[in-house]
Amino acid sequence: MSEDGRRGGPVIAVDGPAAAGKGTLARRLAAALDLPHLDTGLLYRAVGRRVLDAGGDPADPAVAAREAEALAPQDLGRADLRAPEVDRAASLVAAVPAVRRALLAFQRRFAEPRGAVLDGRDIGTVVFPDADLKLFVSASDEERARRRWLELKGRGVEVPFETVLADLRARDARDASRDVAPLRPAADAIVLDTTDLDADAAFARALAIVRDRLGRA
Ligand code: DC
Repeated sequence: MSEDGRRGGPVIAVDGPAAAGKGTLARRLAAALDLPHLDTGLLYRAVGRRVLDAGGDPADPAVAAREAEALAPQDLGRADLRAPEVDRAASLVAAVPAVRRALLAFQRRFAEPRGAVLDGRDIGTVVFPDADLKLFVSASDEERARRRWLELKGRGVEVPFETVLADLRARDARDASRDVAPLRPAADAIVLDTTDLDADAAFARALAIVRDRLGRA
């Protein structure tokens, strides 16, 4: 039971910029703690994908809001949500206040029955300001671009490293400078820099923090 007693289990917020390793970390933490996991970036990606499919402009607030309101569970299961054009579309629709409002209730409901591990940009600052534990996962721009480049290459997508780095920086700048729910660590977040940590080392570090703060794992 979480400290406020309203949820069926603890909420762990894992925020950070693109390709910092927060998704893998959140998934592994959730499995270790037997908690549900939600990759909230997928929600914004699915909205961006819907806008592109409809032939709309992801920067158009009315179009983005309409697609966010129409979001259906099957949109989250699509295989093409990690394509580079969706990176950009997701980051654009994520700056639209009505889109964020439409997705807020879904994220909160997700954690109600059993608690959850959620990864995103604003989990600790906006979605669950009262989360039981907040991690902010970061890494240098170059290291994050290298990971993203390798991931794309592994999927057969050949993009020059410099392009990946420039896209990632543009996306970070958009995510951090938007008026609504900008990317930033919550005042009470624990920052985990993974520049020199592989996935196993980052997981071990995070698990130690969970054990220390929540007394479980
Ligand atoms: O984590 P990701 O790369 O899959 O996220 C896709 C986009 O969605 C990214 O540009 C930031 C945005 N996002 C957000 O604004 N808030 C979240 N909680 C999660 C993602």
